[in-house]
Amino acid sequence: MEHKGFTLWFTGLSGSGKSTIAERVALRLERKGIPVEILDGDIVRTHLSKGLGFSREDRDENIKRVGFVCQLLTRHGVVAVASVISPYREAREYNRHKIRNFVEVYTRCPVEVCAQRDIKGLYQKAVKGEIKGFTGVDDPYEPPLNPEVVCKTDVESVEESVDKVIKKLEEMGYLV
Ligand code: ADX
Repeated sequence: MEHKGFTLWFTGLSGSGKSTIAERVALRLERKGIPVEILDGDIVRTHLSKGLGFSREDRDENIKRVGFVCQLLTRHGVVAVASVISPYREAREYNRHKIRNFVEVYTRCPVEVCAQRDIKGLYQKAVKGEIKGFTGVDDPYEPPLNPEVVCKTDVESVEESVDKVIKKLEEMGYLV
């Protein structure tokens, strides 16, 4: 059956679980035969956004570029899964308005928990002052006001969060 393209936009602090949940959701969709493309911040920044830093201006530019690709994919029936901190509300809202089918997933997790996980060791560096302007430490994160899904990753299991996303997509009529 013909299915609609849409963009699944994961936003949240570094280490809040965006990519983990995004990958698992993508797998579930692929198993249904749906074409999926993941745009992950860490990877995007090695080519599409190579050279951009972490000033507000550069982050917004990164988010616009990722949004642009998501828009192209979505238009052609692909599910675009973005996994980027995207700390500024305005840039996320810009993409929401540009892309018709936009589903925002907020991976909500206290910064203390993300810092404790510290998968990449970056929080430790940020706290020591070795990295400046790290989101959640000495750089802002503006949480979404009305996201379609909130995954409370400090209390939910990955599977629970994935199920929440899938359920929402079903409710919104994207997976019929
Ligand atoms: S965004 O702000 O432009 O959306 P993006 O998701 O692409 O960020 O990249 C975030 C990743 O870059 C983090 O997961 C981390 O690995 C790395 N990183 C390096 N410096 C910073 C920083 N100052 N703030 C946040 N993340 C950083």
